[in-house]
Amino acid sequence: MISRPAPAPLAGGDGGIAGAPRHVAIIMDGNGRWAKARRLPRIAGHRQGVEAVRKVSRAARELGIEVLTLYAFSSENWRRPPAEVSDLMGLLRRFLRNEVEELVREGVRLRVIGDYRALSPDLVEMVEDVVERTRDAEGATLVIALNYGSQREILAAARRVAEAARDGVLNPDTLDEAVFETFLDTHDLPPLDLMIRTSGEQRLSNFLLWQAAYAELLFVDTLWPDFDGATLAAALSSYGMRHRRFGGL
Ligand code: IPE
Ligand code: IPE
Ligand code: MG
Repeated sequence: MISRPAPAPLAGGDGGIAGAPRHVAIIMDGNGRWAKARRLPRIAGHRQGVEAVRKVSRAARELGIEVLTLYAFSSENWRRPPAEVSDLMGLLRRFLRNEVEELVREGVRLRVIGDYRALSPDLVEMVEDVVERTRDAEGATLVIALNYGSQREILAAARRVAEAARDGVLNPDTLDEAVFETFLDTHDLPPLDLMIRTSGEQRLSNFLLWQAAYAELLFVDTLWPDFDGATLAAALSSYGMRHRRFGGL
């Protein structure tokens, strides 16, 4: 008889048919290819991508998704040409300015994960302003990953754990998954149920590596600017048929 205690059951699934996801994350990829196919500059694809963000975040709320996490800018995206980075920052600025009223009206809480403080000071201020204004909203949560990289997030958490241990406020013997998660950017979000990547690429590109441990993965060929409420609904029905086991039967 093996005496190792069973790990606590994970929230978000009971080992049966998945049903409806609480927390969906999307790697919004393919803006550049969408533009290229139309002989347009890449920025045109990013602009259309912002339209998709508007449509899909609205659809997610209508479909009852509690938390939608969108990968908007990775810590590796700084490797792109400065002109493209600046276009992306401009679109983010416009998105925050234009969407804030709708988010407030709809009772959406905006959260940001990633090192957004490294963005330009006016953007940092805008981000913090929207987050503050929607802090107590009781509707859905929209999480935007800005200058986010999962390895860096995990390292930062490990560093804070080490500091807490050094300062005697955390006993290393009590460190487990649940305690460690309180140090991650996603500490106040429900477990990730479904991770979608558009554009046919099949990799995580440093997105939510810890959180995806038991998430269902869905790779779709649709380019992000073409993704809409119907594509999201189709993704949810495909998720609903998955059998989540969490290591059990
Ligand atoms: C996703 O589209 C947007 C960001 C990464 C900011 P891409 O710009 O990566 O589009 P492709 O992959 O070049 O088609
Ligand atoms: C991932 O897309 C980042 C975002 C969607 C923000 P990329 O297009 O940057 O990923 P790679 O470089 O193809 O892995
Ligand atoms: Mg890409």
